Amino acid sequence: MSAIAEKTVRDLALETSSATRVFEKLGIDYCCGGNKSLEEACRTAYLSLDQVQLALDTAEQESKTRVDRDWQREPLADLIAHIQATHHKYVREEIVRLGPLFEKVCGVHGKNHAELLHIQVVFRGLAQELTTHMMKEEMVLFPYIARMEEAVIQGEPVLPPPFGTVANPVAMMEHEHDSAGNALRAMHSASNGYTAPDGACTSYRALYQALAEFEADLHQHIHLENNILFPRAVAMEGTR
Ligand SMILES: [Fe+2]
Ligand SMILES: [Fe+2]
Repeated sequence: MSAIAEKTVRDLALETSSATRVFEKLGIDYCCGGNKSLEEACRTAYLSLDQVQLALDTAEQESKTRVDRDWQREPLADLIAHIQATHHKYVREEIVRLGPLFEKVCGVHGKNHAELLHIQVVFRGLAQELTTHMMKEEMVLFPYIARMEEAVIQGEPVLPPPFGTVANPVAMMEHEHDSAGNALRAMHSASNGYTAPDGACTSYRALYQALAEFEADLHQHIHLENNILFPRAVAMEGTR
């Protein structure tokens, strides 16, 4: 078996960010289920290992012509700014935009498509959870990580955090990510992978398209936090 087949999905996602786009497209879970080897993940997703390897190679070649930032090396403050300016902003905007769209589609099609009402309930819960979750990150965890990094750069002592060690809020955030992952999976399966029924109206299709994009963005977002920001912050605290 090739070396790449034995690597975990998480490691591949960390090595090249283009891999996350391939995994997203093929339905391979790289954020919460990233501990599997590529070979195992392909088997679970009923995909041919050769084809996935080819897709990974192609995406990597293509991404070399783009400028992707290597978040394993960039300052944590920059990574935090990136997460807030792209992912947090997007989540907030989509929550506001999708509420009325859900109302419209459920109002018209909810009677014949009961799964829509179920998805609406799950999305409402997820939206509420994410709103509080992002606030905790922005008010407590992210500022602490940025201050700690600044102190390390300046060679100054860091004031002890009120939450003991950074591993405590990190564990809490990871737990909340798992819960968000469960909500995504529930919506994904209830909508049959966001496949609108034949003859569905434009709003119905637009809603499913938006939810599929919301899912992809949240996977990227959780990947940056779970697999890069949090481990780097925990390691940095350990060096003080
Ligand atoms: Fe976040
Ligand atoms: Fe988060």
